[in-house]
Amino acid sequence: QVATPQWRPLLHYTPQRNWMNDPNGPFFYKGVYHLFYQYNPVASEWGNMSWGYATSTDLLHWHEHDVALPSNETKDIFSGTVVADPHNTSGLGTANNPPLVALYTSVFKKNASREPGVQAQSLAYSLDNGQTWKPYKKDPVLTLSPDSLHFRDPGVFWYAPGGYWVMATVVANAPVVKLYKSANLTDWTFLSDFGPAGFIRPGMLWEMPSLFPLPLDGNPAQQKWVLMLGINPWSIAGGSGSIYFVGSFDGTAFHPDRLPPDGSDPAAYDWLDHGADHYAAIPFAGLPENTPVTIGWMSNWDYASQVPTSPWKGQMTLPMTMTLRTIDGTPQLCLTPESHYTALVAARPTLSFDGLQVFSGDHLLPDRVHGQVLDIDMSMHMQNADRAGIVVRATPDGHTGTNIAYDMKKHMLTVDRSRSGLTDFSPKFSHEHIVNMPSQTGDISLHVIVDRNSIEILSRNGSVVITDLIFPPARADRVIAFSENGMTEFRHMKITPLDSN
Ligand code: FRU
Repeated sequence: QVATPQWRPLLHYTPQRNWMNDPNGPFFYKGVYHLFYQYNPVASEWGNMSWGYATSTDLLHWHEHDVALPSNETKDIFSGTVVADPHNTSGLGTANNPPLVALYTSVFKKNASREPGVQAQSLAYSLDNGQTWKPYKKDPVLTLSPDSLHFRDPGVFWYAPGGYWVMATVVANAPVVKLYKSANLTDWTFLSDFGPAGFIRPGMLWEMPSLFPLPLDGNPAQQKWVLMLGINPWSIAGGSGSIYFVGSFDGTAFHPDRLPPDGSDPAAYDWLDHGADHYAAIPFAGLPENTPVTIGWMSNWDYASQVPTSPWKGQMTLPMTMTLRTIDGTPQLCLTPESHYTALVAARPTLSFDGLQVFSGDHLLPDRVHGQVLDIDMSMHMQNADRAGIVVRATPDGHTGTNIAYDMKKHMLTVDRSRSGLTDFSPKFSHEHIVNMPSQTGDISLHVIVDRNSIEILSRNGSVVITDLIFPPARADRVIAFSENGMTEFRHMKITPLDSN
């Protein structure tokens, strides 16, 4: 396949070559961000699942290392978590040199001690800050009885109020989240099940669960627990996507405040993202509790293997800070770009078009506003227009571009990538992603992050997010503001080119 450097993202992590899916065990330790991920060391398709590995000091520039946990003749290595064990509860390090502990899913192969395909949780540890890993002598450390082909994705955290570790896993096809506890990370006892709950369809999987506390509206006295997980298929944008439940955790069970009614449709869930390309999102371990950061896989199981990039396939979302805010009377999980990204944008020269008025039609922003990588921070006031918005990664004639529009009559924010560039590599590459977002006043604020092959759109304090891959021609580097059937004032429009990063 021909190399596609024009689609190698600048702001988002990609391995140099080969296949990547879920982030695994992201953690912050001694000033360094560590990121592992589902990786095929030898091919651009899913298989030989191993943990690839990269580190960064700013979550923007990554250094790729050798594979951390390779698959071998007896097992593949599926997703999981890494935690620091500062008090050496596992006994796998020493008081002076406490271990890092990885909990991951083993998928046993033919010549192993178990039936092929059986999934169970295993442990490896590192005594050199994550550079090398040793498998724990007892393998696996947690099995399901009877054996399951779908018992995976341990998300582990220290539960301070109880003084023990908690693991969330799934029986993906049940679909159910299972919680366990442990004093030492090696011996686990069952706590409780959550699910199936809400909108469930035959064949729907739950994957990649994570459970974490967040203060509501920044108030530490009002702590809530969030259970985030991946759904595949039947996501709001088709294929795979991430949802969350808000509730409480009593040390044994998770109690959601609210459940979507059974038999409803996917729109009843709370979606982390309404776009097509944000899956398997999990939080970084080791960060201060007041600045939790999540990262996800920026693709979709519906077409991930057909994505036309080479010599790599798969990329991560931008790391996002998570907050929980009351919006329209309910607590909602909100994403904002992590602070290193914000600082990068703030340090760059900005072009401002505050007060730009667009009467029915398209307004191509001047030539000096061009780039394949742009940060766009804008708010528009739709005076009497029916629809308005911007086209990014556009050609000057407007024939090619990704369209971001708000519809005043339908109260909907829409991303349309049908003319974004290459789209026909898979019939499942969905074209339109829509969020219901009522506005009485016609004032819409959007933060749009454009990279060489993606857009991330944030609105309503980050409670509305749309993340989509796009594959535009390199020359499509312009921005068009548009307004249909009336006037729109782009009251605030700040564009920061980020092409050299
Ligand atoms: C989610 C997932 C996980 C599994 C991994 C395998 O995308 O299916 O459930 O651990 O990918 O690569």
